[in-house]
Parts: sequence; structure tokens; C-alpha cells
Amino acid sequence: MTTEPGAQPSAADLTERFEAAGQGHVCRYLPELSEVERDGFLRQLAALDLPRLETLIGAVLAAAPADATGAVEPPDLIECADDDAGRARDDEARAAGEEYLAAGRVAAFMVAGGQGTRLGYDGPKGRFPVGPLTQRSLFAYHAQRVRATSRRYGATAPFYVMTSDATHESTVAAFGEAGWFGLDPEQVHFLTQGTLPAIDHAGRLLLASKSSLALSPDGHGGSFAALSASGALARMAAGGVDQIFYFQVDNPLAPVLDPVFIGHQVLAGAEMSTKVVAKTEPGEKVGVLARVDGRVGVIEYSDLGDELAQERDERGRLRFRAGNIAIHMLDRAFVERLVGGDLELPVHRAEKKVPCIDERGVRVEPTEPNAIKMELFVFDALPLAARTVTQEVRREDEFAPVKNAQGSDSPRTASDALADQARRWMGAAGLAPPRDLAEVGPLFALDVEEFRRNLTERDTGPVFDRS
Ligand code: UD1
Repeated sequence: MTTEPGAQPSAADLTERFEAAGQGHVCRYLPELSEVERDGFLRQLAALDLPRLETLIGAVLAAAPADATGAVEPPDLIECADDDAGRARDDEARAAGEEYLAAGRVAAFMVAGGQGTRLGYDGPKGRFPVGPLTQRSLFAYHAQRVRATSRRYGATAPFYVMTSDATHESTVAAFGEAGWFGLDPEQVHFLTQGTLPAIDHAGRLLLASKSSLALSPDGHGGSFAALSASGALARMAAGGVDQIFYFQVDNPLAPVLDPVFIGHQVLAGAEMSTKVVAKTEPGEKVGVLARVDGRVGVIEYSDLGDELAQERDERGRLRFRAGNIAIHMLDRAFVERLVGGDLELPVHRAEKKVPCIDERGVRVEPTEPNAIKMELFVFDALPLAARTVTQEVRREDEFAPVKNAQGSDSPRTASDALADQARRWMGAAGLAPPRDLAEVGPLFALDVEEFRRNLTERDTGPVFDRS
């Protein structure tokens, strides 16, 4: 949402520009501000790309929240391997993915810019402890997987971490305090996502104070612009990285840099790929992968509509069961194409309560939603990709998100899923799983085969770890 830095326009220039865009009210308090406040505010205003903003506001006000219509079909799926043919297909993909990893051609990319409002945790979500016995944090799980993968394939995988203004400092501090989780600090790159201003229902920008706009993170769809603006794409290109493994901080089971998924993407020559799990019930709050008018995309749970959500196929399974677990492969050249061209992602609206300054200069703490926040979603790039792969995986192996403080998708359910996985691996390796908790650290094993291989007589559990 920023323009190229250049000479700072004057207050009069900016006022004129904002008036012409129907947003002159934001300059109303300029004469009252101290010099420092005014300079800061003018810089904020000058950084806004007004023409783009006008387009986004027009689109978000016009968008009618409606259920998906038109030709909606389930996507083609690479289903979970449950026979020899499926296993051979995945083995071939694994070999291709492993080649990429060994050649250092894949970066891990974690999005961690969300404020975790639903979790009610005061700090970046990634600090949240979820290890069943060691209280290992979300950050530690992900970073240790990057480290273990780099070690396994003898090539350093760069780890890009996207933060927002709200999470940046605390995220960097968490990595620093943890000694970079054993990673080489040179391997880790932080980038901060952009912001978009909140507007009222007439499309007018809201002021958070007399000298600042009400801004919020631009959604994980902002990651494309952030990868470009931060220089990450250029760094990847220079370092020979041409595939990006994208995942969310909130899922401790995310198999970061999974060679099978990388392999499916590269063997298919796909520009963007997605992992999905079968939805547990029609109302589960995950987006679903679908083909809309022939193009693969994600339909958010709030937009699918009851009727489609309930439909069953001939085997009694939900027809739209391909639940998005927000793990994607991105071809670096595709991301470059997205940010370099005119391919603008659609903007989504969220009705929110945003404290602001009213026309009389009085601060308002709303009790009802008074504002529209604009957000971009990463999966809206799917329909723009020339080719995509959708890979179905087992939920118990790969998806246990931490969203809510209690109940479903909570730290408790995530921690239980990690313990269940550890017990399953123990059973598969011929160890008697304990009746209660067990835990496997990523540096001990990234999958059940590695778990079996790495077991020695000393490893009796219930915690299996290495440094
Ligand atoms: C998201 C997906 C949903 C998917 C589910 C799987 C959306 C709109 N929907 O739902 O299709 O089934 O995850 O868990 O995303 N983030 C940023 N910057 C932002 C906003 C979010 O980095 O501006 C990050 C968060 O840190 C988090 C992730 O994106 O890691 C997901 O955000 P969240 O708001 O929790 O998405 P959900 O609604 O749970």
C-alpha cells in the first residue's frame, strides 16, 4: 500500500489530493497538530497509494456478501495414498521434492502477522506453548522442522517469517531469546506485511487519532507484496530458490518443507498448490477447495452456503470436503508475475469495531461494528495460477490449528493431536505407547520412518528429542 519514496509532498498538496479523492476530512486536524505530529501524519498520508485505494474501496463497497453461485464443482484431488499405486505416486513425488531440497531450491515461508484475537493471547501466537510435555512453542516446532530438514538434506533452507506491525517486534524477540531455535540467524529473514486503512460504510477513511489513520494488516494476501517489497524474492532468485513452501504459524502439525508436496508441485509444473483434509462435518470452519467456473479456488466457510456444504457424493462423503489447511506451494516466478503485473487480488470485507475520532474530534469506542476492514487472501491467487495441484492429506498427521482459547481448534486439541501422533509413531515402531502423553521433537524425527530409524535403546520416551 505504499508508493515509491520520493520528495515529501507539502501539506497543501496532500490536502488537495485527499480532497480530490473525497477523503479531505482526514486533513481536518492538521492545523492543530504539533510539528512532529504533523510530519509523521503527512508521511503516513504520502505513503498511501490513493488511486489503488480508491479502486479497493469501490470494490469492497460494491461486493455483496453472497453465497457461491455459478458452476461450482469439487476440485481434482490427489487423494491420500491407500494402495500400491498411490504409494508409488507419492514415492516419485518424494524423490523429486528431495532433489529440490538437497539443491537448496526451496524456502520455508511462515505467515505470522495475525493478531490472534480469538485466542485472546497477549503476544505473538507463535510463542504459545503446545508441546504436550515440553511446552514447546509453535515457533519452536516450525523452526526445528526447518533445521531438521536442512540437516537431513545437507542444504540450508532459508526461513522467511512474515509479521505485521502488531507482531513484528515480539516475534523477532521470541526468536532472539530462543537462540534462533538453533537455526543459523543468517537463515532467518523477517518481513513485515503492509497495511490497509479501515473505512466507514460510506467509504471514508477512519482516523485513529487526529494525527493517524486507522490501519490494520492487509491480510495474508499481503504476503506477495511483502515478499517483493522486502527484497525476499530477489534474495531467493539470487540464492537459487525457486519454490516457496507457505504455511500458517497456527498449525503445529504443519509438515514444513514436506518433500512429497514439493514433488507434486514440481512434477505437475504447478504454479500454486494446496493441501487439504476431509472436512469433519458440513459446518466445520475451514474454507473448501472448489472449481468455480472451471478455475480452482477456495470458497470461505462463510460463503459456501448450507446447501452445497451438505451435499454428498455417491459414497456418502461430503461433496465439498476438500478443507483448506492453508499449506501451499508457490512457484517463485508465479509470485513475481503476481506482483509485477496487473493481477490484483480481490478485496474482502470484514465488519469490525474500530475506535476512531469523529467529526467533532471526539474519540469514539464503538460497541457495534462501525467500520469495514479490507483484507487480501493468499488463496485468491489460486484461480490466477496456470496450473494447480490439490493434495489430500490425513488430518491427524498434518492439521491441528490453534484458533480459539477453548473447545475446538484450541491449544488443548492441538497438544492432544501432537501427543496422539507421538503415540502412533511409538506403536508403529514397536514401543508400547504410554496411556497418557508422549511427544516427539522435530529434531528427533520428522516422520514415522525417521522415528523408527532414529530409535536407540536409550529412547524409551515419553519425550523423544535431540538437539
Ligand atoms: C484460515 C483460512 C481458511 C483455512 C484455515 C485453516 C482465511 C480467510 N481462511 O482461516 O480457509 O481453512 O485458515 O486453518 O485465511 N495472517 C497474517 N496476516 C494477516 C492475517 C492473517 O499473517 O493479516 C496469518 C495469521 O497469523 C495466521 C493465518 O494467517 O497464521 C490465518 O489467519 P486466520 O485469521 O486465523 O484465518 P482463519 O479464519 O482461521
